[in-house]
Amino acid sequence: MTAVLGIETSCDETAAAVVVDGGTVASSVVSSQVDLHARFGGVVPEIASRAHLDLIGPVIADALVEAGLDASAAAPPVGAVAATYGPGLVGALLVGVSTAKALAMVWDVPFVAVNHLEAHLYATVLEQPDLPLPAVVLLVSGGHTLLVAMEALGDYRVLGSTIDDAAGEAFDKVARYLGLGYPGGPEIDRVAVDGDPTAMAFPRARTDGTHDFSFSGLKTAVVNHVRKHPGVDTADVAASFQQAVVDVLVAKTRVAADEVGAASMCLGGGVAANTQLRSVFAAAAAAEGRECLVPAREFCTDNAAMVASAGWHRLRSDGPSPLDTGAIPNLRLT
Ligand code: KG4
Ligand code: ZN
Repeated sequence: MTAVLGIETSCDETAAAVVVDGGTVASSVVSSQVDLHARFGGVVPEIASRAHLDLIGPVIADALVEAGLDASAAAPPVGAVAATYGPGLVGALLVGVSTAKALAMVWDVPFVAVNHLEAHLYATVLEQPDLPLPAVVLLVSGGHTLLVAMEALGDYRVLGSTIDDAAGEAFDKVARYLGLGYPGGPEIDRVAVDGDPTAMAFPRARTDGTHDFSFSGLKTAVVNHVRKHPGVDTADVAASFQQAVVDVLVAKTRVAADEVGAASMCLGGGVAANTQLRSVFAAAAAAEGRECLVPAREFCTDNAAMVASAGWHRLRSDGPSPLDTGAIPNLRLT
């Protein structure tokens, strides 16, 4: 049995978690900096780094206590320490990576550097370790929109990605334009409940023949519509915009799943917390007899349980990471 301490500081969540053998979550603590960044309408990198420095110690201490572990005992409380080393904000990443390496040295246990995107993929596996493969995973977050074919755990092929805005970025930008709060995704999700998703026929980007996505035209269409119709109902705009995003995401995933002959369709990343996306995605998988995996909301948005899980799998396949590993802000999923 190996307990791994996972650490996540790639953006504006300071998170630590203890996961046993890659699948049993003993604790998962997330401290969000949303309030610090809200008045700026987006994440301010320097503020994020400083807040991570203040929060990382207490958040790790909480995660160990919640997992019933004693950091002051003679034996190390965990068997390895894993941290996100990219992609993300460099200053923010460095806080998690440096802390993880320091703890690994003090406790004399392996350090594992984890790709944040791979961690989001493991969020799906966290709840179902015997995921039917091959799987197609739709990974939709604030920074990325990826369709990934997963032949085996740790064996990925990126089928497509966004050619402009990420899905979460589109949610955040449209929400800001509509005067909703930050982050915009959850606000649009909330407001759209009272709107009519067919009120406006916003464009579904045509990127036929590829597995790529595009959301900047949709965003512009929303802005132009609101400019032309200043009295328009915000709930209708939010619901129609959300429907356009969900339609494209699900349609593209269906095509990819067909092509790959996928046994399961999985959803990951912060936008996977979206109520409408979760329900349409699950219905699409059911209609085609594919297993559907939609993680609990707490494991869709940034968290450290997914980092600990990915770290456990990486440790088994590749062994520990060198202690001179640094932060890689533009790390890709390969
Ligand atoms: O994965 P995540 O927590 O951080 C990144 O790695 O980017 O994703 C954050 C993104 C934000 O753009 C946020 O607006 C979006 O996920 N998001 C949502 C919802 N909850 C979070 N988008 C739509 N509906 C939601 N309920
Ligand atoms: Zn993320």
